[in-house]
Amino acid sequence: MKSDTGIAIVDRDEDGVDKAFRADVLSGLRQHQKAVPARWFYDERGSQLFEQITQLDEYYPTRAETEILRERGDDFARLIGPERSVVEFGSGSSVKTPLLLEAIDPAAYVPLDISGDFLRQSAAALAEKFPGVPVHPVEADFMRKVALPDAVAPLRKLGFFPGSTIGNMVARTAVDLLRSMRSTLGADEGHLPLLLIGMDLVKDRDVLEAAYDDAAGVTAAFNLNLAERINRELGGTIPTGKLRHVALWNDDFARIEMHLRATEAIAFSVSGHDFEMAEGETIHTENSHKFTRRSANTLLLAGGWTPLHRWTDSARRFSLILARATEHRDAP
Ligand code: AVJ
Repeated sequence: MKSDTGIAIVDRDEDGVDKAFRADVLSGLRQHQKAVPARWFYDERGSQLFEQITQLDEYYPTRAETEILRERGDDFARLIGPERSVVEFGSGSSVKTPLLLEAIDPAAYVPLDISGDFLRQSAAALAEKFPGVPVHPVEADFMRKVALPDAVAPLRKLGFFPGSTIGNMVARTAVDLLRSMRSTLGADEGHLPLLLIGMDLVKDRDVLEAAYDDAAGVTAAFNLNLAERINRELGGTIPTGKLRHVALWNDDFARIEMHLRATEAIAFSVSGHDFEMAEGETIHTENSHKFTRRSANTLLLAGGWTPLHRWTDSARRFSLILARATEHRDAP
């Protein structure tokens, strides 16, 4: 299927299999370090489990970011000002997005998401809550430049990318995305858009590992659901009872890594292709990079954004950064 922006959304074969999912899984499982991109966590069950994760005692990011959004409304109003069109990368959360929209009195709200279902749900909820704000949902893959609706294209824009989702990407992919956001927001059309982006902070290893390996096992279920989804949707035979959830801090790369580790040697097939895992071998399923003030600024600058202001929650666990598209110039 193609969206009105010409970007393929979900392309399925005769059996209803999502072709991009199958291609990513098959090529990921053929790699020396087996890996499946984290975006495939979020089927219906995965999205429900993530919602549960955000309510765990150990998982601080959602509460910390929401605290900032709740308490810094006056700062947002002053630094961002009214009459901006808010372009959210990903469909809005029912809690965070209203806090921002309430604070800044926007001209329009444009949620972008690859999943039409999530998009329609959140757009409808927002439209009801803010009857005076036009809502223009766009079904699109925001990793590439997205054509915004004509009604908002000429307006001043604020990109909104909460949740530290940027942390799921390795640096070169994160830079590509930041540059795509500039294009989507029209940075080269003589106006300098703003970006409000959530970036989780480096902290004590024990706190980080607990946030991704909670006592109740919800994150383990979230991780294992990826293997179960492969079995459900791609005719897989992965013996999921022989995979264990692992979450480890990689200090060199400043990231939490999630893996599924084989507790014994296993063999299985996916869409008719055979795979083996030795005892202890893993499938790498997620990176969640954590930032310092400087590493966050460096990443933003590399992606064409100049940091203007930074907020943290009271326990200094999470940061929200306001940046402006960097003007192109030759020197220095
Ligand atoms: C939604 C990508 C920000 O990395 O913290 C939560 C996903 N994975 N627990 C994160 C996640 C395991 C989450 N993000």
